[in-house]
Amino acid sequence: MNTPHRRVPVALGDRAYEVVVGPEVLGAAGQYHRELGLGPALIVTEPEVAAHHAPALVDSLRDAGVSVRAVLEVPSGEPAKSHASFEQLVERLLAAEIRRDCSVYAVGGGCVGDLAGFAAGTVLRGVSFVQAPTTLLAQVDSSVGGKTAINTRAGKNLLGVFHQPRLVLADIATLRTLPLRELRAGYGEVVKYGLLGDADLFVWLERHGPALLAGDEELRTEAVERCCRIKAQVIVDDEREQGGRALLNLGHTFGHALEAEAGMDGTLRHGEAVAVGCVLAFRFSERRGLVPAGTADRVARHFAQAGLPTSPREALGRPWPAATALQQMQSDKKIRSDNRLPLVLARAIGAAFLTRDCSRDELARFLCAEAAN
Ligand code: GLY
Repeated sequence: MNTPHRRVPVALGDRAYEVVVGPEVLGAAGQYHRELGLGPALIVTEPEVAAHHAPALVDSLRDAGVSVRAVLEVPSGEPAKSHASFEQLVERLLAAEIRRDCSVYAVGGGCVGDLAGFAAGTVLRGVSFVQAPTTLLAQVDSSVGGKTAINTRAGKNLLGVFHQPRLVLADIATLRTLPLRELRAGYGEVVKYGLLGDADLFVWLERHGPALLAGDEELRTEAVERCCRIKAQVIVDDEREQGGRALLNLGHTFGHALEAEAGMDGTLRHGEAVAVGCVLAFRFSERRGLVPAGTADRVARHFAQAGLPTSPREALGRPWPAATALQQMQSDKKIRSDNRLPLVLARAIGAAFLTRDCSRDELARFLCAEAAN
């Protein structure tokens, strides 16, 4: 198809797909859908997004002769990922006569994508799934790679399946209506990609980040494309997180604990927690002598320039008691049965690695020095 959209391949053999990136991608959805030979569509979306972006998708599908069987709204944010919301969605998909040849579209942020993907991966033992992420965070992270899940009482994302999408439509124009705070939070994940595996991307963001955040869509397209290329390679190398995919968790072990401290009620955005987590991961790396002095400050300066918090105190508006921080980190779901906490550290900007050699004492000393700041 002849469009100005960028197409990033995710080369997973018979489950390969493309991430299409650019402005007005949703308006071309029908053609991409037809290209793949997908059947009737059922659209899962969230209230604000339904008004702003679902019509372009529905019109494009119908113009291409694709039957749209239902447009179903689910709650925004984490409430979408409850058992009750999952049960209701599945019943509504079945009531709308979903069949094995149908495809479920997720149009919205990462939570809608996680819920709709889990429903698509399980209803009728699995139907085709298309991700149409409308937040920067979902465009660069959760929509690519096939992780789907809902939450349980024991924690976030504990019930899910790997279910790769057939297509990801990352429409940069949808970011025009995204609140600035959400955009900045998504930018935290963009920076993470530079920090973990692409020093040139980090330098590029130091130069272009302000214009990107201010609205430049060429820069936004390029940033999303570059992040998706990095993520696609990580997924191809380690789809089920047995090794390298864990690098995507740079900043997340500290970040998730900080989110738990903030109360998981949305007062602290995931991308904000990741920004603080990345700074802490670089401070930890610096204390170990892995990166030159000043590296963590450089990372923090860039997040601060983007309007993101760079310390627990700034993120929470109060200190984070080290003992609580330690306890929260040690209940991380990624701890294996040997009780070793996985930490992503760095040897340089753009050179992250996974380690499980951090003792409880070393972590406690670090948190005493850093968590209260
Ligand atoms: N969001 C991390 C991953 O996809 O593995």
